[in-house]
Amino acid sequence: MIEAEGAATFRSATDMYGRFIGRYAPSLAAALIEAGGVEPDDRVLDVGCGPGGLATTLAEIVGQENVAAVDPSPPFVSVCRARLPTADVRVAAAEELPFEDDTFDAAFAQLVVNFMTDPVRGVGEMKRVVKPGGKVAACTWDYREGMTMIRAYWDSAHEVAPDQSAKFDEGKNMRYATLEELTGLWETVDLEEVEGGELSVTVPYEDFDDLWAPLPTGIGPAGAFCASLDPETQEALRTALARRLGDPEGPFELSARAWYAVGRA
Ligand SMILES: C[S@@+](CC[C@H](N)C(=O)[O-])C[C@H]1O[C@@H](n2cnc3c(N)ncnc32)[C@H](O)[C@@H]1O
Repeated sequence: MIEAEGAATFRSATDMYGRFIGRYAPSLAAALIEAGGVEPDDRVLDVGCGPGGLATTLAEIVGQENVAAVDPSPPFVSVCRARLPTADVRVAAAEELPFEDDTFDAAFAQLVVNFMTDPVRGVGEMKRVVKPGGKVAACTWDYREGMTMIRAYWDSAHEVAPDQSAKFDEGKNMRYATLEELTGLWETVDLEEVEGGELSVTVPYEDFDDLWAPLPTGIGPAGAFCASLDPETQEALRTALARRLGDPEGPFELSARAWYAVGRA
């Protein structure tokens, strides 16, 4: 099996993933499903399911037994399996999907394409396992601008640790973080009727600690950077990020924009 390097920062702390990115998953999933289109009797696949935010939303439409989901991270697969006990949830990477050709009516990947080791092969595999005419759809964060939390985080990191942060900024180094690049990938793998656009969601935070808590645990690329800092710089980053978000004292909300691409196999 392919070792998916992008999965490395998602191997642990599934509860922290929920607080970090998982809180965005249900509303983003609803928007992605609407863009992709799912019918109640469809058989569907969630690639890079994580703890199951998208798979769970898909199951509400088609029923668990019509949902399959894969992720290379065993802890995430365990959580997804527990949430959807009658779905087909497996440890696997996009690049080697363990399914026959033409198995599904639609395949989705939420916030995953940019982490794939070989995105052309991974999306090509999604196309292979979808029936002719079926949909392949995915979304990635607008790391450069519209994903408020991550953008504010890296801008704060540049402020307090410019030398260390320069090469880790996801706005600079994440692939498929623009609409053109993402839809271009769909065209590269010869998907048809390719369309794309933006998905916007808003999520609540209890307070600033609710946002900050996952980061020092090393979750995701932003967390991995945070965990690598000495305590003093980490505290400076915390202060700078809070300031950038208006020093919230109680509950607040943040918006996030993702790009989506959809095409037919
Ligand atoms: C940001 S999380 C998104 C999880 C989930 N889709 C969601 O919306 O909450 C990225 C996920 O991609 C998975 N991943 C990384 N490389 C992958 C690959 N090559 N194939 C499939 N999934 C991969 C990670 O393990 C992680 O679960």
